Amino acid sequence: MKEVINQLEKRRSSARLGGGEERIDAQHQKGKLTARERIALLLDKNSFEELDMFVEHRCSDFGMAKKKIPGDGVVTGHGKINGRLVFVYSQDFTVFGGSLSEAHAEKICKVMDLALKVGAPIIGLNDSGGARIHEGVASLGGYAEVFQRNVLASGVIPQISVIMGPCAGGAVYSPAMTDFIFMVEDTAYMFVTGPEVVKTVTHEVVTREELGGASTHTDKTGIADVALSNDVDTISEIRRFFSFLPLSNKEKPPSIECLDPVTRIEKSLDNLAPTDPHKPYDMKELILKIADNEDFFETKPTFAKNIITGFIRVNGETIGVVANQPAVLAGCLDIHSSRKAARFVRFCDCFDIPILTLVDVPGFLPGTDQEHNGIISHGAKLLYAYAEATVPKVTVITRKAYGGAYDVMASKHLRGDINYAWPTAEIAVMGPKGAVEIIFRDSLDDPDSINSHTEDYRKTFANPFVAARRGFIDDIINPSDTRLKVASAFDVLKNKKLENPWKKHGNIPL
Ligand code: HXC
Repeated sequence: MKEVINQLEKRRSSARLGGGEERIDAQHQKGKLTARERIALLLDKNSFEELDMFVEHRCSDFGMAKKKIPGDGVVTGHGKINGRLVFVYSQDFTVFGGSLSEAHAEKICKVMDLALKVGAPIIGLNDSGGARIHEGVASLGGYAEVFQRNVLASGVIPQISVIMGPCAGGAVYSPAMTDFIFMVEDTAYMFVTGPEVVKTVTHEVVTREELGGASTHTDKTGIADVALSNDVDTISEIRRFFSFLPLSNKEKPPSIECLDPVTRIEKSLDNLAPTDPHKPYDMKELILKIADNEDFFETKPTFAKNIITGFIRVNGETIGVVANQPAVLAGCLDIHSSRKAARFVRFCDCFDIPILTLVDVPGFLPGTDQEHNGIISHGAKLLYAYAEATVPKVTVITRKAYGGAYDVMASKHLRGDINYAWPTAEIAVMGPKGAVEIIFRDSLDDPDSINSHTEDYRKTFANPFVAARRGFIDDIINPSDTRLKVASAFDVLKNKKLENPWKKHGNIPL
């Protein structure tokens, strides 16, 4: 028996070596950890249970029958993050460049199926040269099997992708369908066609980094949520991020004991929003002052910075925050910010995470660029997402809430549950100047008359009382009390029940 057990241990040790010492060294020289080192950092100590360690590919073409490595380029299994169950797969670049064979795909599908059955998130650590070229269509079929599972798992369990090396060709579509994408700066890249193909087809010369590196996807495309400078920092942020999420759509996110008093009054907030409507301020200050211990996990912090999204806790419970940022583009809604916020709202709604919306929005960004690129349907995404969401929705209007953007930003009319305004709020169809220039078009050459009408309009409409008189605002609150009021509102709403009419699925303007 001892001999048999020794044999087993030998096989395990050999499997753990993946593509061998030389390739492991090469991986380290690129500043990358191996698939197993990454899993060890991601999961609680000794919690990893590996599955399918001895799986091998079945390809015999191109001499592959003689090249078999146990595990076949992906390490799969389950473990714990801060004591909570999670399924993982981690592609091993030292084995055939982490490329995806039929057997490799089957291993990923097995953990995805298990995650879905037991209701726990899946985290995929991607580092792969794409389809195993020797296997042809068998590999393409493997990808499609993964894609199908990504779609079935969407909205049922959180899916997180971490890009830690190459992710190219059709392989990008699995991460694209997951809820959040983290990337490692300098070593990770994602593109549908690489620089060589781009050069041949369009004659453009572009580096991998420019085409699909971490900064491209966090700043320009918004496809990735967060980029960090190395494997260790990225994995450590994922552990922090995980603590905000529920295990599935049937569970609540974990409650954390709150030692930060919800009755905390923040006097400085009384001066946050300048009375001059043209002056910017940083909405992040308000988010931090509402959050327990000023702990805010921001998603897509460098993309569409005119809207802020991310997670905080209030009284120990996870809350999704969507906030206009008056410090960037005056906080207006445009194509990118609408898409960013809509996807975030839908994630929160899928997983029963209440939404706090902080509003200071002068309207939609005007211009041919926006109109011709489809602001109508992109803006409609955010409107649709808010209107569809049934989770508790609390809104605070700090200053401007103008026009259609007022409606969109979790207004009472889109089933906002508790809608507050600060005394500085201006809830109107548009800013006083624009309104007067339309109503008093005939007096445009009389500046005194225009100024006097503008002042009248400001006094009559640029305040929260008109909306409050109609019940569109539930209360006008002191800015310094915002944390207290928000905490109390979410507490009142914690047993909220609301269902949309039965349907197969809606038809969000994509
Ligand atoms: C089989 C692969 C492979 C692949 C890499 N390798 N990619 N083996 N299938 N797709 C092997 C290499 O042959 C090499 O083996 C080892 O992995 C390490 O690769 P290197 O090239 O030495 O590494 P590096 O210089 O870092 O370059 C990494 C790379 C490059 C940029 C990923 O390997 C590359 O361009 N690979 C091909 C990428 C590709 O075209 N994939 C198919 C895309 S189409 P040895 O034994 O020499 O060390 C696709 C369709 C999916 O994915 C569709 C889904 C719907």
